[in-house]
Amino acid sequence: MERVIRLLLTLSVGFLDRRTHGDLLQSVRQDVSQLRSVILATAGILLEALQAAALIVAAVSLSPSLSVLAFLVVPVAAFPIYVIARRTLARSFGVRTKGVVLFDSLLQLIHGIRIIKIYQGEQTEGERTIECARSYFDELINMEKVRAFARIVLESLAGLNVVVVIIVGGFSVMSGHLGWPELLAFLMAMRAAQGPLNNINNNYLEVQRWGASVEHVDQLLKEQPEIQDRPDSRPLTRTPQRIAAEGVAFEVDGKQVLENVAFEVRAGETLGIVGPSGAGKTTLLNLIARFYDPTAGKVTLDGEDLRNFHLQDVYGQLAIVTQDPFLFSTTIRANILCGRPDASDEDIEAAARAAEIHDEIMTMPDGYE
Ligand SMILES: Nc1ncnc2c1ncn2[C@@H]1O[C@H](COP(=O)(O)OP(=O)(O)OP(=O)(O)O)[C@@H](O)[C@H]1O
Ligand SMILES: [Mg+2]
Repeated sequence: MERVIRLLLTLSVGFLDRRTHGDLLQSVRQDVSQLRSVILATAGILLEALQAAALIVAAVSLSPSLSVLAFLVVPVAAFPIYVIARRTLARSFGVRTKGVVLFDSLLQLIHGIRIIKIYQGEQTEGERTIECARSYFDELINMEKVRAFARIVLESLAGLNVVVVIIVGGFSVMSGHLGWPELLAFLMAMRAAQGPLNNINNNYLEVQRWGASVEHVDQLLKEQPEIQDRPDSRPLTRTPQRIAAEGVAFEVDGKQVLENVAFEVRAGETLGIVGPSGAGKTTLLNLIARFYDPTAGKVTLDGEDLRNFHLQDVYGQLAIVTQDPFLFSTTIRANILCGRPDASDEDIEAAARAAEIHDEIMTMPDGYE
């Protein structure tokens, strides 16, 4: 967990922008704990396998022919268990996704509580979150059903096997091929081996159950910060007297957010950047603060590219006051409706026009939806 927390703090703003808070919380809190369960279960498999092997050797030494019958269940059960394990693994991704959606929904309730209360959104928001919780628990129950089915398959086969061994072993005793004490010892060794075999099965399914968490932790640990010091970057030893942008462009997901931006501001001057919502004002500040790097052009400090300096030195020279908007992760329509749930489509559009966001909304693939 410590490693994940430290790593998160080293990653760039862009990485955190792309992940929801629920997803990040899930990674730090749940995925890491579940990785621990997977390690314990894997160690369990190794220990139980040693025990099972010892008991199988004992059984084979008592009666090789009965052993074939007794432990035929292992290869026979292996295929259905493998299929069930694949399904459990696939479901683990569904459970994780639904868990993240639930986390995000709960976080929205907490962050947006003032807005919810003022606009009496308790009912709507409550129902939305309860729906997420139901969906999460349904997914969890489905996974548990698959696991329970695996257990039933294995234990039924094992039970059936005991009956078969008793019958065949009984005939062997009657025909004089095996003594009663050997049959009894064989049955005891066989029953004793079933415990470790069941535990191997349970631990194996446990590993699959948390497969999505293991995958996410693995991916996370491979992340590298997008914004890093260049190998030849230098310290920034004095306070810059001139900040400038030269032909700055920024593109994200194929969308040109800024194009050919140029300005210069000297120490003591104030520069106001004005533009409609979505024009790219915050993006420009993000580039000046080097939260992102421009896709073309450069930001300079005293005429020198910002990227030539140590990142920590650049951050050390900056102060920032952020704008802190809150939007529900739902449609734009629902967000606008939050203020007046009975508003008509015309009212919604009028509100968006007044906020000068209508044109931008219309450029989105699903518009208000
Ligand atoms: N990291 C990013 N990932 C995806 N889209 C981004 C990113 N950064 C900026 N954008 C997009 O770039 C556009 C400009 O956003 P920006 O936040 O800079 O606008 P703004 O001028 O600050 O708007 P506002 O007045 O509402 O604060 C928006 O369409 C935004 O969605
Ligand atoms: Mg902004």
